[in-house]
Amino acid sequence: MRPLLRNGEASRAAKVARGRCRDSCKAWRSRGDDPNFPKYESEAPRLFLRSLDAMSTVYLNGEYIPKDRATISVDDRGFLLSDGIYEVTPAYQGRLFRMERHLRRLQHGLDALRIEYDSAGLPDMHARLIAENSLDSEDIAIVYLQITRGVAPRTHHFPPDGTAPTVYAFAQAFHRPESARWKRGYEAITVPDRRWDRVDIKSIGLLPNVLAQQAAVDAGVQDALLVNDGVALEGSHNNVFAVLDGVVTTHPATHRILHGVTREYVIGLAHSQGIPVEERPVLLEEMRGADEIFFTGTTTEVRPTVRLDGESVGSGKVGPVAQEIYEAFIAGTQVEASAA
Ligand code: PDD
Repeated sequence: MRPLLRNGEASRAAKVARGRCRDSCKAWRSRGDDPNFPKYESEAPRLFLRSLDAMSTVYLNGEYIPKDRATISVDDRGFLLSDGIYEVTPAYQGRLFRMERHLRRLQHGLDALRIEYDSAGLPDMHARLIAENSLDSEDIAIVYLQITRGVAPRTHHFPPDGTAPTVYAFAQAFHRPESARWKRGYEAITVPDRRWDRVDIKSIGLLPNVLAQQAAVDAGVQDALLVNDGVALEGSHNNVFAVLDGVVTTHPATHRILHGVTREYVIGLAHSQGIPVEERPVLLEEMRGADEIFFTGTTTEVRPTVRLDGESVGSGKVGPVAQEIYEAFIAGTQVEASAA
């Protein structure tokens, strides 16, 4: 029988393989129309990336181990009850972007769910995952972190005091779309918002988001705009903005949307570009008549919508406000990445 890889061997092997793959896989990926929807022209790159992924180093409950050796109990409350929260934090050229905002939102969720966890070590853990997976040289990487209420025989109420939370994290490269693709704009459909009323908590219970995004994929579009009582709230995994008479308008940060870190950053960028901003509920009908619509998020950055439910948004082309904000966004992340 093949001996198990010793600690560190898998990540070293993954590093070598990743180095070899970097150019060819990037070229292969960019052939797809959108990095979120790669078109698999052949099985080979997909299988290669999957085995690379299995060799990547992940964090589980204090240990850094190869992903294919990371296992959790079937009694984990995240698995049984979706009893947990998550975060997705970007890193630009290896530097974590607005980590303190992600930590603040994580703490908000931990407090709301009464999960006791000391998050002081998280910045170091994120940085180590990026380094161990050789992602410092990637333009963009993301770190996914999930904290559940831990392992205990299934009950609806909380487990006994002292039950340790399960903490899992992985890092992976993220690929921004080619500029020519971005400039063509994207499409969205509207979907009824079927979520609970505390979506400010970044819960791992994402079934309505999953179904909404699958509806978008089934419709051959990139984004799903969630609508509740005629109000356009946000996307399945991103926030949404409308440009209405020159005013960048987005739902206020209440319990009805996730308080996106990118949303907050984009609002700041708009202010600094002298573009007026208003935070108020936006009716779907207003969205339909908007000059521009764009979504924002860690894995979305700034994504302009040129068709909503098959109808042109504004001119049907990417508008000047989205363009200006996207340029400021890219410049801002570059400054952050090169900061001492
Ligand atoms: N999604 N709204 C929802 C419902 C989200 O799930 C997200 C993030 C956002 C944007 O938040 P931020 O700008 O902090 O990424 C808004 C993450 C990326 C995800 O689920 O993968």
